[in-house]
Amino acid sequence: MTKPRAFVTRRIPDKGLEMARQAADLEIWSDPLPPSYETLLQKVKGQDAVLCLLTDRIDANLMDAIGPQVKVISQMAVGFDNIDIAAATARGIPIGNTPGVLTDTTADFAWALLMAAARRVVEGDKFTRAGEWKTWGPIDFLGPDVTGATLGIVGFGRIGQGLAKRAQGFDMRILYFDRQRNPEAEQKYGAQFVELETLLRESEFVSLHTVLSPETYHLMDDVRLGQMKRSGILINTSRGPVVDPAALYRALSSGTIAYAALDVTEPEPIKLDDPLLSLDNIIIAPHIASASYQTRDKMATMAAANLIAGLNGERLSNCVNPQVYDK
Ligand code: GLV
Repeated sequence: MTKPRAFVTRRIPDKGLEMARQAADLEIWSDPLPPSYETLLQKVKGQDAVLCLLTDRIDANLMDAIGPQVKVISQMAVGFDNIDIAAATARGIPIGNTPGVLTDTTADFAWALLMAAARRVVEGDKFTRAGEWKTWGPIDFLGPDVTGATLGIVGFGRIGQGLAKRAQGFDMRILYFDRQRNPEAEQKYGAQFVELETLLRESEFVSLHTVLSPETYHLMDDVRLGQMKRSGILINTSRGPVVDPAALYRALSSGTIAYAALDVTEPEPIKLDDPLLSLDNIIIAPHIASASYQTRDKMATMAAANLIAGLNGERLSNCVNPQVYDK
């Protein structure tokens, strides 16, 4: 019996590829850069499944290009704002994602950014390498204390709660804002629900953990950045467009806020002539919050498991649009 065919849009950890290979003949895009949208349209034609990444635009047009035989689109990421979910559901295509396995790793990284921004680790490193370290300076590289400070978490899902768990160890006052209150998590992490404006006004650290949606697009604009403390530090490990980059530049360069640390930008990658890159009071990492060996292996095997389930006509363990099973 011939195996079904699947297109994998980039080289993913071997554990995932080995698993997926048991169930399908894989065609793997092996360039380090993602295929262009036009190339993707060609490559997916006639495949029974696609294993994709957040760097691929998966829209209705692309779904039609794959063809009606497609059984599953499995994304190796928890976020799926690059995929037109309504279009997939209308076509009966289940979409898989990889929630849960990257929660701690991503919360760890958000915490690393928070600490690095507060204590100016990256600036210090640049200073050392530039040969500017001449002596111990009593008033050099001062930053705010993390211990005992107020942390505002915007989006209190798995990763937001993961950050709260870490903050508890630092005796922080934890505020959160979400569309829905979560009394159980409030209790567990000693977190207090407040409106977004209160959170922005009272927090030394504001960390974003929302999904990207029309509601959260440019959530942090001039007005909201203006509501933060002048000593405030903004951390974003969610999606780049949750922050308006032009407004962030204005806020950081005018002293409206003190510092930012981003793992995500708009666009990605950030353009080298982006004015944000001219500032010293910002850290920009290249979207690596889930990049631990263990977590990327887990994400790859989870994506492979979703792919295999879809090819076998079984329900995906992690399906973004379970409505496809109601039909
Ligand atoms: C990473 O950003 C993910 O959504 O998994």
